[in-house]
Amino acid sequence: MNAPTKHAKLLSWVDEMAKMTQPDSLVWCDGTKAEYDSLIGKAVAGGVAIRLARRPNSFLFRSQASDVARVENRTFISSRSKDDAGPTNNWIDPVELKATLKKLYTGSMRGRTMYVIPFSMGPVGSPIAKIGIEITDSEYVVTNMHIMTRVGTRVLEVLGDSGEFVPCLHSVGDPLLSCQDDNGLWPCAPLDKKYIAHFPEEKTIWSYGSGYGGNALLGKKCLALRIASVIARDEGWMAEHMLILKITNPEGRVKYIAAAFPSACGKTNLAMLVPTVPGWKVETIGDDIAWMKPGKDGRLYAINPEAGFFGVAPGTSIDSNPNAMRSMERNTIFTNVALTEDGDVWWEGIGYDAPGTLIDWTGKPWIQDKANKSQPPAANPNSRFTAPAAQCPSIAPEWEDPAGVPIDAFLFGGRRPSTIPLVTQAFDWNHGVFMGSIAGSEITTAALDLNVGSVRRDPFAMLPFCGYHMGDYFAHWIKMGKKTPVSAQPKFFFVNWFRKTKDGKWLWPGYGENSRVLKWIFERCDGGGKSVETPIGIMPAPDGIDLPAGFAADDIKELLRVDTAGWKAELADIRSAHYPKFGSRLPKEMTEQLDALVKRLG
Ligand code: OXD
Ligand code: MN
Repeated sequence: MNAPTKHAKLLSWVDEMAKMTQPDSLVWCDGTKAEYDSLIGKAVAGGVAIRLARRPNSFLFRSQASDVARVENRTFISSRSKDDAGPTNNWIDPVELKATLKKLYTGSMRGRTMYVIPFSMGPVGSPIAKIGIEITDSEYVVTNMHIMTRVGTRVLEVLGDSGEFVPCLHSVGDPLLSCQDDNGLWPCAPLDKKYIAHFPEEKTIWSYGSGYGGNALLGKKCLALRIASVIARDEGWMAEHMLILKITNPEGRVKYIAAAFPSACGKTNLAMLVPTVPGWKVETIGDDIAWMKPGKDGRLYAINPEAGFFGVAPGTSIDSNPNAMRSMERNTIFTNVALTEDGDVWWEGIGYDAPGTLIDWTGKPWIQDKANKSQPPAANPNSRFTAPAAQCPSIAPEWEDPAGVPIDAFLFGGRRPSTIPLVTQAFDWNHGVFMGSIAGSEITTAALDLNVGSVRRDPFAMLPFCGYHMGDYFAHWIKMGKKTPVSAQPKFFFVNWFRKTKDGKWLWPGYGENSRVLKWIFERCDGGGKSVETPIGIMPAPDGIDLPAGFAADDIKELLRVDTAGWKAELADIRSAHYPKFGSRLPKEMTEQLDALVKRLG
């Protein structure tokens, strides 16, 4: 096929990669429906995808057990200096890593087709958008990229003959040597051969050995967060692991909120929330990533660089997230969920019992046994749906506005059964950055490095996604505050939907009821909101939150209590265990905030 571009640098890079990986054929992707249909058809014919009888144009893929999630311990920030990757990223010298990878890539696409995917992160042509070119040998990747990004010829037109792009090389690392197709087995390489490598100085991504999600759909975590965070630092903007939502009050006034939470805190649910407060409306701009640039008026304008949702299926139901359920009624790719006899999908927490005998995510028959608490799940806990954002009933009309939307508030949070109140507003920008820097979730299952009950801190929910030293990342936040006029600055809030009583019951109902907290946040941004000043920040007055009917007075008191002893322990942990991780690159403003808070607590 003739290349549909005259971009010399792109052509020579594609040529060089093809010489190394030695595919049988090469296809330039045009992003059309015909292309999507033919690639899905190939995956079905090869036995790695199943057409779902009950959902139009929807398919199920099942991966191998070694390839079910992002592989953080195989993810590398390969900057020239180890120090620039920082203590929280894995690092290998780029010369050494490239040599290792070149050996693995040599011949890795034999028997397969190399696809060249021109994609835009952000509306094509938006001044905030960036172009990437992903080379891959996986039909699963191409079809998912069709949903998650804007793919095709229009992107090459914007790129022109000399525009900038981020080269993203991907191979499943599983050449077809003796058979014609995958024979039903998801292609990938063993765990110790997987590498998700980022070269921040070259702004290049090399991913090898995994076909799954963020390891392989390189526009998402690799480009839109790890590489984009480096570009944003250098160019003076922000690439954040944040959902973006639009909230409208009964008078029709609008605020835009960007929120960062570690994985498994219900970001997609919050982005698509159905408010329980009468007259209020929440709409979705994005559920995972926000790119924000200062506008002429000094405010931060955000776009969602993605075009789809790659959401976790288990726990998603008509009750927990009706908008997500409706987004995936058609044109959706499911990965590692269970299959019903009549050709539909099922997962734990879908809201109804498993109908009949299922085929579980490993491909084996599975009958629900509710009495057996140790029955393995039918759907993998990290099983996913890939659905077009345009299909979401709550998508905001301006979600693709190339200019972005002006952000009024930042939210940070995590799963914290104790200490952290339902909501606290920061006194100012630097106090807000402090809140972001200490966010995290309490450990509920024993992990190798942490005990149950301790907090796994995930500053700004960016720990696995920052392409450079986290200390410098905090400094970048401080710098962005300095250049944003105070009147144009978003307000910062620390939220916690996950408080529990001593006997383990939820104190706050969460889901749609979180709109009551969003209402207070809206009011604070609008110059109102009944509030009180406390040592930890500005909090709702006792009657500041519009509560659900019959909500227990003691419960809201507890949810809004300043737990002085708990905070003192928290701050001691931050001083002795969290902040020291960032060494000399921790900005002094962070310790100033810590000292000031200790003093205010008395
Ligand atoms: C995700 C994650 O999948 O943050 O979005 O892990
Ligand atoms: Mn995420």
